[in-house]
Amino acid sequence: MSVDLSTYYLGMKLKNPLAVAACAPLTGSVEMLRRLEDAGAAMAVLPSLFEEQIEHEETEFNRLFEYQAESFAESLTHFPVLQEYNTGPRDYIRHIEAAKQAVSMPIIGSLNGASPGGWIRYAKMIEEAGADALELNIYFVPTAAETTAADVEQRYIELVASVRQSVALPLAVKIGPNFTSLPNVAQHLVAAGADALVLFNRYVEADIDLETLQMKPDLVLSNRHEARGPIRWIAILRDQLQVSLAATSGVHRMQGAIKLLLAGADVTMMASILLMEGPDRIRTMLAEMTTWLEENEYDSVEQLKGSMSRGNCPDAGALERANYMKALTSYTVETPGP
Ligand SMILES: Cc1cc2nc3c(=O)[nH]c(=O)nc-3n(C[C@H](O)[C@H](O)[C@H](O)COP(=O)(O)O)c2cc1C
Repeated sequence: MSVDLSTYYLGMKLKNPLAVAACAPLTGSVEMLRRLEDAGAAMAVLPSLFEEQIEHEETEFNRLFEYQAESFAESLTHFPVLQEYNTGPRDYIRHIEAAKQAVSMPIIGSLNGASPGGWIRYAKMIEEAGADALELNIYFVPTAAETTAADVEQRYIELVASVRQSVALPLAVKIGPNFTSLPNVAQHLVAAGADALVLFNRYVEADIDLETLQMKPDLVLSNRHEARGPIRWIAILRDQLQVSLAATSGVHRMQGAIKLLLAGADVTMMASILLMEGPDRIRTMLAEMTTWLEENEYDSVEQLKGSMSRGNCPDAGALERANYMKALTSYTVETPGP
């Protein structure tokens, strides 16, 4: 008997629950998208088009356009040339079109920003370019002591609402784990129009370069233990939200993906492990997942999904504070150091 690996995410039927997360070296190349699909990937999220990229391009565009308008009476004839200059977002749109032509798996466009502004209209362009859905990655770092948690949450909610208004596409919202009450924020994001939540974004944290005494952003790839954050929160959110849930962060092995599905994820997304080991990792994980499901007498991924959510969990306290105390007080060092 063969098991059915298919799953539903954002109203789409995916052939299996292994997707590729937004990541330029992976999903930014059509050739790599083909390889990922050949290895079995069920869906791919394109790298984000960033608010800063859009704003920068538009500033440059306006600056050049004004300069041209002053210099030449027939400035409008230069418009196409200037448009060519405005390459970032245009290249992005072209990449969506090329990706849709090259592969048959669903292609998700991604917008990444934190403040209200003109960049949001690119959601519409992503829709028109043929993306199957849109992922909105919101990443805001409050630095002022006056900014309250409610201010930050309101910003997220307003961004989701304005993107929701501008597109009919299924909308996934990717967030980080750092909220005082994640379930409450999640509920508001859904009310504002999110059709899915993607948990969690991994932040690039600045480090200090001791040679130059400068802050430098340093991207560190994930490890498999990082799947525990999404496992806990997806289990907590699953029964409270009527939307799709995607897991990202630390999905490296079949076991991690299975745990996330048990917690209630509809799809799991990978970046770091595919950068480290290449697309074939997906092939291996799919074979191992099939074997695991067969050995554990599951007929399908759908049957597995959410069966260890907080509501279905035999020991829901393990997701909460009680487990913390137990873990700390029962920790033993197996081989004491010198
Ligand atoms: C090189 C690299 C580029 C990434 N670019 C994006 C991006 O453009 N947009 C985004 O939402 N996430 C981006 N991410 C985050 C991934 O989509 C993913 O959510 C995160 O790395 C956690 O998954 P992982 O543990 O499998 O790496 C990037 C990650 C890496 C490693």
